[in-house]
This record gives sequence, C-alpha cells and structure tokens, in this order.
Amino acid sequence: GVKIVTIGGGSSYTPELMEGFIKRFDELPIREIWLVDIEAGKEKLKIVGEMAQRMWDASPYDVKVHLTLDRREALKDADFVTTQFRVGLLDARIKDERIPLSYGMVGQETNGAGGIFKAFRTIPVILSIVEDMKELCPNAWLVNFANPSGMVTDAIIRYGKWEKVIGLCNVPVMAMMQEPKLIGKTTDELVYSFAGINHFHWHRVQDLAGNDVTSQIIEKLYEKDNGLPANIFDVPFFKEQLKQMNLIPCGYHRYYYRYEEMLSHMLEEYNDPNIGTRGQQVKQTEAELFELYKDPNLDHKPEQLEKRGGAYYSDAACETIASIYANKNTQVVVSTKNNGAVPDLAPDDVVEVSAYIGSAGARPVAFGSLPPAEKGWLQVMKNMELCVEEAAVTGDYGLALQAFTINPLIPSGETAKRVLDELLIAHKNYLPQF
Ligand code: NAD
Ligand code: G6P
Ligand code: MN
Repeated sequence: GVKIVTIGGGSSYTPELMEGFIKRFDELPIREIWLVDIEAGKEKLKIVGEMAQRMWDASPYDVKVHLTLDRREALKDADFVTTQFRVGLLDARIKDERIPLSYGMVGQETNGAGGIFKAFRTIPVILSIVEDMKELCPNAWLVNFANPSGMVTDAIIRYGKWEKVIGLCNVPVMAMMQEPKLIGKTTDELVYSFAGINHFHWHRVQDLAGNDVTSQIIEKLYEKDNGLPANIFDVPFFKEQLKQMNLIPCGYHRYYYRYEEMLSHMLEEYNDPNIGTRGQQVKQTEAELFELYKDPNLDHKPEQLEKRGGAYYSDAACETIASIYANKNTQVVVSTKNNGAVPDLAPDDVVEVSAYIGSAGARPVAFGSLPPAEKGWLQVMKNMELCVEEAAVTGDYGLALQAFTINPLIPSGETAKRVLDELLIAHKNYLPQF
C-alpha cells in the first residue's frame, strides 16, 4: 500500500484531497495518510484531520489518517509527499496584501511585492523539507501546491537538487472545466496546450480534428470569464488584444493587462472596513469551513469550499499522483523542468505546461516559441522569479531590490524600497536568511 504525507495538513483544502484519493482508490491503493502541521496549526489539524478520517470511514476503504507535528516521523518511507503549507498563516498573507496597498501598490498573494515575500518565507522551509526527504524517503515524489507554486517548484530543483517534484495549480483545471461549455463542447472533445509559468501562462485549444477553436472561446470569454477562480476580480480583457494574440491568458494576467482597473478594485476593498483584502475575506470563509468540519456528522467535502480560490486542486494533485503510481500517462498541466517545451526560456527553467504524467514523472509537451509580446512578458517574469529565488536562498538585499525593480507590478523608486524594508520587518520572524 501507498504512504501519503501531506505537509500543512491543517489546511481547509485537506477534505478536497481526501475526496480525490477516495475517488481514485482503485488505481492508487493507499494504506496510510500522514497529515503534518506545526504548533500554530494544531487546532486546525485536529479538526480537519478528524473530518478526513470520517471521510475514509464513510468510504469502502480502510485507510488510517495519522495526525502529527513531527514531520520527520511522518516522512519515514513515504511514497508521495504533498505540500500545502502557509508560512505565517493568513496573518502573514494579510501583511503581504496590506503593506503594498498602503503605498498604492498591488497587494496580492502570489503577485507583486506580496508574492515575492511569500516566496521568501516559503523557499527556506521547502528546502528543509527536501533535506529531510533525502534522508527519510529518498524515493518519494514531492507534489507541491504551496505558493508561489512555480517559484517553489523551481527552487526545489535548482537549489534543493531534488528532481522528483511536480508543481500544481488549479487555474488550468478550472479553465479546462469551464471553457468548453462556452462553445457547447465537453472537456474531452477538446485538446488543450498550455505554456508559460505558474499564474502567467497562456493556452490554445483545438478540437479533435485539429482545428483551432481558441478564437471561438475568446469571442465568449471577454464577456464573462467563468473559468476564473473565486479570488480574482473579473475585469474583462481587451477584445482586440485577445484577438491579436489568439491565445487565452490565465486569470492572473489581468493584473498585468488591466493593471489600473485591478489595482483600483483592490484599493477599494482595502479601504472599505466592511470588505478588506482577499486574505481578510478568506479568514471569514475559513472560520465558516472549520465550523462545518467540527460537525461529527459531516463526512464529505462541503460545497462551501468552492468559495476558496483553490477549489478543484485535488483533481490535479490526485490525478498526478495516481498517474505516477500507475504509469497512466494522463495529461495534466504542471510546473516542471522546461526541457525545450518553451524554447523562449532556458531548458532548466521550471515552466507551467501541458505534460504527460507517468512513472518517470512529467514529460512536457512541446509548445514552441511565443510571439514577441508574450515572449517579452514571459522572459521578464521568469527572470524576475530567478532573482526572487536566489534572494530567498542567500538573503541578498540588493538582489531582493533587483527583483522588486524588475517586477512589473512594483513601480521603482524610494517607495518600492520602503515597501521592501517594511515587509522585511513585518515578516522578520520567518526570514532568517535576511
Ligand atoms: P493555511 O493558512 O490553511 O495553511 C495550511 C497549514 O499550513 C496551516 O494549518 C499551517 O499551520 C500550516 N503550516 C504553516 N507553516 C508550516 C510549516 N512550516 N510546516 C508545516 N505546516 C505548516 O493555507 P491554505 O489557504 O490552505 O493554503 C495552503 C497553501 O496552498 C498556501 O501556500 C497557498 O498559497 C497554497 N495554495 C495553492 C494553490 C495553487 O493553485 N497552487 C491554491 C490555493 C492555495
Ligand atoms: C487560486 C490559485 C491559488 C491562489 C488561490 C487563492 O485560484 O490558483 O494559487 O493563491 O486560489 O485563493 P484564496 O481563496 O485563498 O484567495
Ligand atoms: Mn495557483
């Protein structure tokens, strides 16, 4: 039987993961699941862990869910390790949002200054997990969901020297679920090709005969993007721009293509004491979810979880794990080493692309070069990520400032430096490298 370890087990997404595993038990015979958390997440771990066990008890399968604060005990002989932790919990996220917004800059979980600081906090922790894995479960696969998922995955390979890793996000899953309906099709009647990096990828779509249907989807998309995760405000893209590129941008491209509108929406919520930033809103949703999870009669994932931006992430995570285990060669969109799939980036850069997943890991599908507009964006964004990762590892202040300067959501100058300094102080307990 398979041993699964989930780090950040106290996450409200854990029932989502359990549901995905229960659905796939025939191809992925799990023996035990270890949910790992830390002292600060002890209460959450207990509530969601007991809920997870009830889900298995209500299924036909005999699986034991272990709860522990001892990561090393859990990792011993693991087959698959999934990571869904949040260093500093939601309070840290709220600082990532509010501090840049207080200076009139985008304050967001994975973009701009906030996204950079989430990487600074997360990368040292993931690298220490990798060191434990080398010792305790050297043959295991690491399936990362912790954000910023692309940079974290890249750092695992580049600095952790750990190749058996796959990074995941639910954004492509949601696009592939919702878009076909716009043109009266189902997901399996279409072929999707994604290329780019996490939260910054584009895709094109063909029908089974090989005809491009991207433009048909675009026609519908600028009216209403119903494949958009709950956390992204729907400012429509410019129609002329989408038509020109004939590629479908991901939801997060709005922060770059409609910067003014996204920023003013964020500032409006930030300035309204009854709304607050997304992190503040999520705190409420999380409290509601945990109230539900406490109910000893609840033994299935509640639909309220769909209010979270990461809904359906288990479709990617559990399918990836089952595909590796059973060598299924299913197509999943993942963060993995480029190896030439996107020739505009280096072969060893982690990219987010359509890939076949089997027992040897991810085999990316070649996408080809992007046109100048998209290529320019992508190269800036990927190299910005490389600065962030190196600064996260070395604690080099000058390099952190370089990353801020190159990031398109951070106007350069004294204010940027002030935001950097303020975030360094606000998060100092989680930033031993600086
Ligand atoms: P959360 O705030 O509920 O945190 C999850 C758990 O991580 C908490 O119980 C916390 O105590 C624990 N934790 C914190 N530091 C830890 C450490 N060092 N070791 C072990 N556990 C630790 O977070 P969430 O909202 O459930 O999100 C979890 C993570 O998944 C975040 O990083 C978030 O950004 C990410 N996420 C990713 C996607 C995606 O598309 N890839 C989607 C949604 C969320
Ligand atoms: C998204 C993403 C995640 C993101 C999350 C936020 O859709 O894919 O990477 O960070 O959902 O959701 P939340 O509900 O926490 O705002
Ligand atoms: Mn994501």
